Amino acid sequence: MELPSFLSHPAWFLCSVVLALVLRLQRKGSWEARKCRTDLTGKTTIVTGANTGIGKQVALDFARRNARVILACRSRERGQKAVEEIKKETGNKKVILSILDTSSMASVRAFAERILSEEKRLDVLVNNAGVSGLPYAISAEGLEITFATNHLGPFLLTNLLLDLLNRTAPSRIVFLSSFMQGLGNIDTSNLWGKNMEKKKMNDSYNDTKLMNTICAKELAKRLQGTGVTVNIVNPGIVKTEAMRNYNFLFRLIFNIVGFFFFKSAQEGAASTIYCSISEEAEGMTGKYIDSDCTTILPPEKAQDPAINQKLWEACESATNLHTHWRK
Ligand SMILES: *[C@@H]1O[C@H](CO)[C@@H](O)[C@H](O)[C@H]1NC(C)=O
Ligand SMILES: *[C@@H]1O[C@H](CO)[C@@H](O)[C@H](O)[C@H]1NC(C)=O
Ligand SMILES: *[C@@H]1O[C@H](CO)[C@@H](O)[C@H](O)[C@H]1NC(C)=O
Repeated sequence: MELPSFLSHPAWFLCSVVLALVLRLQRKGSWEARKCRTDLTGKTTIVTGANTGIGKQVALDFARRNARVILACRSRERGQKAVEEIKKETGNKKVILSILDTSSMASVRAFAERILSEEKRLDVLVNNAGVSGLPYAISAEGLEITFATNHLGPFLLTNLLLDLLNRTAPSRIVFLSSFMQGLGNIDTSNLWGKNMEKKKMNDSYNDTKLMNTICAKELAKRLQGTGVTVNIVNPGIVKTEAMRNYNFLFRLIFNIVGFFFFKSAQEGAASTIYCSISEEAEGMTGKYIDSDCTTILPPEKAQDPAINQKLWEACESATNLHTHWRK
């Protein structure tokens, strides 16, 4: 098929470049972290998966605001490197590394124990750590890896830290979800046994992001009146290392398209920072915030109270969770 001749005119090329640049400029959200004056002196924060991407930008922002910042990372080497970089850039000496692998419930429990014995307060918990594009695999604990890393680990961690958050109140919990959660499905008859196995070649990422939204909403309900708030953010489409597990061609296309349309990690961190520390979000709870820091409705799939209750209970039993926060 031949292209119409007018399409080869240079004006078309120019128009496309101008359009692309306009799109490049509009991807910024309306709320800007650098204009927010909140100071976090005397406050303690935890950011999971903080050695790269959005997590690192969030940790950097908290460090600039003089918080004590605990970077919870899987790799000691990469985590320590991020700690040094953030310290150097901000001059904040209260930036530390604590090892956490959210795919392992043993690691989550060990991390929580360390925090509970060493920290006197916890003002902000950002559940950022997550993976995507991994093939189906079962961990030593018998859990599907993507599911354990993105959902069950953060679920357990948050529950184990509730007493400390409650003692520190007002305090804030933030979960990272994704617009991809709309593609997720919750099959309550088989939450993560055969249901996950069927998705061998698929990405259970979508499901885990939907689960995060559901459990965050459920938690917000349980924490009503405590001064501990829980919100969910969609950071937008962000250029991060989250694509590292995909093949070369996919990453190439992602990067080219991404240059024009996607947010940088710094821009992508805005909605998370907004929920974590902004005055505007004070007292706000159970909300789903999109990449422009506006409140939107979560997908309908996250709004069925019966399914939500069932998922919460399944997570409790999968993690053998027994706390007095149970209903
Ligand atoms: C939360 O903290 C308040 C105030 O310290 C306390 O009275 C309440 O019992 C705590 N709630 C739980 C469930 O521990
Ligand atoms: C991916 O998941 C869908 C729905 O869960 C299923 O129908 C399909 O067979 C799966 N594909 C592969 C390659 O496993
Ligand atoms: C999750 O989303 C990705 C990207 O759109 C898609 O390739 C994958 O099949 C989805 N998985 C399921 C189970 O829907």
